[in-house]
Amino acid sequence: MRVTMIGSGYVGLVSGACFADFGHVVTCVDTDAAKIEALNRGEIPIFEPGLDDLVAKNAREGRLYFTTELDDAVANADTVFIAVGTPARRGDGHADLSYVYQAARDVVAKLDGFTVVVTKSTVPVGTGDEVERIMREARPQAEFAVVSNPEFLREGAAIADFKRPDRIVIGTEDARARAVMEELYRPLYLNASPLLFTSRRTSELIKYAANAYLATKITFINEMADLCEAVGANVQEVARGIGLDNRIGSKFLHAGPGYGGSCFPKDTLALMKTAQDLTAPLRIVETVVAVNDQRKRAMARKVITACGGSVRGKRIAILGLAFKPNTDDMREAPSLSIITALQDAGAEIVAYDPESMGPAQALMPGISYAADPYSCLEGADALVIVTEWDAFRALDLARVKAGLREPVVVDLRNIYRSEDMRRRGFQYSNVGNA
Ligand code: UDX
Repeated sequence: MRVTMIGSGYVGLVSGACFADFGHVVTCVDTDAAKIEALNRGEIPIFEPGLDDLVAKNAREGRLYFTTELDDAVANADTVFIAVGTPARRGDGHADLSYVYQAARDVVAKLDGFTVVVTKSTVPVGTGDEVERIMREARPQAEFAVVSNPEFLREGAAIADFKRPDRIVIGTEDARARAVMEELYRPLYLNASPLLFTSRRTSELIKYAANAYLATKITFINEMADLCEAVGANVQEVARGIGLDNRIGSKFLHAGPGYGGSCFPKDTLALMKTAQDLTAPLRIVETVVAVNDQRKRAMARKVITACGGSVRGKRIAILGLAFKPNTDDMREAPSLSIITALQDAGAEIVAYDPESMGPAQALMPGISYAADPYSCLEGADALVIVTEWDAFRALDLARVKAGLREPVVVDLRNIYRSEDMRRRGFQYSNVGNA
């Protein structure tokens, strides 16, 4: 099949490369000429494990193309995916759909023969209806169907998530479109990934409901961690104890400094706004959003307490800046709030992250950046683990202790064990006494 991706950002690029790897012929389109030139040279603009090899292989084998020219790519396609950004609109938190609607206008002008137009971007309920209306109005005779097919890709594990998904959700009530989508996802039948067909609106809502539920699960265990600290219980054991109940499940129960990233914060906010506008408020989600925002700032207070009540004039080493490991993404990263609050309290910050120091430097020019974990913590009054990169799990703890001016470690991701750290002579604190 011939697939065209409008938008070669994170979702478009991963989805395009994976569809090509399944044997479809994929053209990724983007208006950013520099990005397309780079992709044609084999340079990948984002850090995602395995993506560079996947792109190189499929480009070499003639199944993956990059272009700024939408015309032929759309005219020849069986399916056109709209995978452009839907950033939170400044001021009101609603998703900004201007790029989606512009893509719809651009696409409909070039359609040739029956084409399935798929919204892959995360879009509020009803966006598919509006995309269809815009396209119908522009070309009443054009043959197309608008389908919703949300992505459930985790950064850092996006290729595996695409190729072995828990489910594929497809929102359409058009029989022709359904047949095309079944053919497109045929390569996944072997993996027994269920294809769930729903109405378009239901499919759009499933995406938001899934992200809001996961954000709620994380926030629940985070608050439980605070309670564990207050009562002297262990949050990891609580998580294990409840997670073994199949009705609850063990995933997304890792307590930490609050969720960040490009999806959960934006999507929970957009869902909350939609629900408020329709006077069907989602009070749980509203609370989750507020609790998570407060939590990121509260983590700085935890560091200040560990440092004896003040960080004024102290040097604080931060290991991990990205919102989670295996990505260079700094969007809504807890490190941003924690570092700002520590700076406001008078601390001097030195940080290290394996992948995100470039993006971080642009956002936080006022801190120092170290070349490796050990030089980061050298002479520091406290070490704070903010992102659980694997490389931090097996640090030489004797060297860490020798390097620190004070043996204070605040582990916001629970990557070390309390007894072990205390036995080694650290003043160790973590999240939920784990
Ligand atoms: C998420 C969804 O998982 C994915 O399905 C969706 O399509 C996009 O949003 P992503 O943002 O890449 O993916 O990261 P994810 O691994 O889900 O983590 C999100 C945030 O939650 C991170 O800040 C992470 O540190 C935090 N988290 C996750 C926890 O604090 N505890 C957990 O148990 C799990």
